Amino acid sequence: MRTVAEYAKIVNGRLENLLPKLPEDSFAEGGMPELLCRSMNYSLLAGGKRLRPAMFLAALEMLGGDLDAWLDYACAVEMIHSYSLIHDDLPGMDDDTMRRGRPTNHVVFGVGQAILAGDGLLNGAFELMLDCALRRPGKAERALRAMREIATGAGVSGMIAGQVMDLRCERQGEADDAALSFIQRDKTACMFRYPLRAAATLAGAGTKEIDALGAYGEAFGRAFQAVDDLLDVLGDSAAMGKTLGKDAEQGKLTMVSRYGVDGAREQVRALCERALAALEGFGSEADFFRELMRSTAERTR
Ligand code: IPE
Ligand code: IPE
Ligand code: MG
Ligand code: MG
Ligand code: MG
Repeated sequence: MRTVAEYAKIVNGRLENLLPKLPEDSFAEGGMPELLCRSMNYSLLAGGKRLRPAMFLAALEMLGGDLDAWLDYACAVEMIHSYSLIHDDLPGMDDDTMRRGRPTNHVVFGVGQAILAGDGLLNGAFELMLDCALRRPGKAERALRAMREIATGAGVSGMIAGQVMDLRCERQGEADDAALSFIQRDKTACMFRYPLRAAATLAGAGTKEIDALGAYGEAFGRAFQAVDDLLDVLGDSAAMGKTLGKDAEQGKLTMVSRYGVDGAREQVRALCERALAALEGFGSEADFFRELMRSTAERTR
């Protein structure tokens, strides 16, 4: 099995060639405005960790799937993630000015264009998956099922739901454990759990394996967000590529606001164990995921 960096390189190679090379502005039908191309690429190619597509490809390979055939699904997951970051940073949401080590999309292109760049990435993700599926009519059912999983993770009972509750719980003194758990699962863990389920589906895995990887993804994603909450307090802004200390300033309901730094660390430990337990049915072929969980618990970026 390859490393995250190797998978990230494969993903980047494809993402760099997804959008047309700076099209000329024209009013011809089927044309894409040059401005839209630039704003979408600005955020998409800004050098994120590519963790979600890397995990997607690792799951696909682990279960005997064809990486080349389904690479565009991995890229679609990263496009959806990048859109979620552009919108997350908007003045009406977290109001952030730094992302992936550079000014946020709306700072460079304006709020209206940033909303549209996000919309373009979300719609583009589904265009990409549909084209990929249409090239493989023999695997149409798998392709559709996998797309459904990805849509669920990103959707109104997934990431969007989590973002709604994240905003709604800002500065609410009476927030509780259930609300926090909902936010962490939906806004973040769903974007790991469902893409992993999609990858397993594309590989032709059975329900048991799909569910096990999904369970790992949920625990992993929860731990990932708990560490993000910790790093907002303890991390280094240059390494993270974003402004830190924002959660307390905005009265966010986070692992740290609810349980304190030590309590949040304890949560990370418990979630790690849960993630590793979900992999018990797999042998050494799942070591990529075991190692990734361990390194994520200690990540600094
Ligand atoms: C940031 O995700 C949003 C959270 C869920 C905390 P990442 O930390 O994976 O961001 P990139 O893709 O590496 O920029
Ligand atoms: C973001 O959570 C989750 C999504 C983008 C869906 P945060 O708001 O904590 O992420 P950062 O800290 O801005 O990266
Ligand atoms: Mg947010
Ligand atoms: Mg944010
Ligand atoms: Mg955060």
